[in-house]
Amino acid sequence: MLLRKPKGRFKNLTMIAAPSINPAVTTENRLTRRHVGLDEIAALAAVLARAAQPGDVITLSGGLGAGKTTFARFFIQALAVNTGGDAQEEVPSPTFTLVQVYERDPAPVWHFDLYRITRAEDAYELNIEEAFEVGISLIEWSERLGALLPSDRLDVHLETEPGDEEAASTRALTLSAYGAWASRLGDICKDV
Ligand SMILES: Nc1ncnc2c1ncn2[C@@H]1O[C@H](COP(=O)(O)OP(=O)(O)O)[C@@H](O)[C@H]1O
Ligand SMILES: [Mg+2]
Repeated sequence: MLLRKPKGRFKNLTMIAAPSINPAVTTENRLTRRHVGLDEIAALAAVLARAAQPGDVITLSGGLGAGKTTFARFFIQALAVNTGGDAQEEVPSPTFTLVQVYERDPAPVWHFDLYRITRAEDAYELNIEEAFEVGISLIEWSERLGALLPSDRLDVHLETEPGDEEAASTRALTLSAYGAWASRLGDICKDV
């Protein structure tokens, strides 16, 4: 079922109602697009950064090298511009530190990479509850959280495009909005 036609640069995204994987979540909107280059990822990250509120959770999914950290970097740097900070501030991958926190407005951005945690509960030691409550959370390898994953969230899924001539320079993108994010996504994408 086509729910709504997004306008603007993402107008040829299809927005469909898809069955939810989490029975606690009643709504899921999904947008897909292929051949998304770095500049478009940067634009999307900036729009989402502008729309982000304290308590927001954005999961970044996809395999190694899919572009998860790259998206987070664009998001964090865009917020630095919005808040008068240093847009060139380094945003390293939290592969080893597991989390990096950036002071931003309207809330600090917590950038997690949970690849190396072995139990979902290990995320408590990273103060993930505080992040969910007062911060803006960007989470790579969020599947490690299992049932601790909030039901209101936006998932940004990136995939390399094998067999495609543009594979080296673009990605397939899927945005999946769960819970409260479902109604926000269409409005946000109007601005892209
Ligand atoms: N949308 C994109 N199009 C083309 N190349 C990309 C895109 N996103 C990321 N890349 C490139 O892919 C490589 C791996 O990205 P990275 O963000 O480190 O992946 P991940 O965190 O998913 O392992 C980087 O060289 C980056 O420049
Ligand atoms: Mg990464």
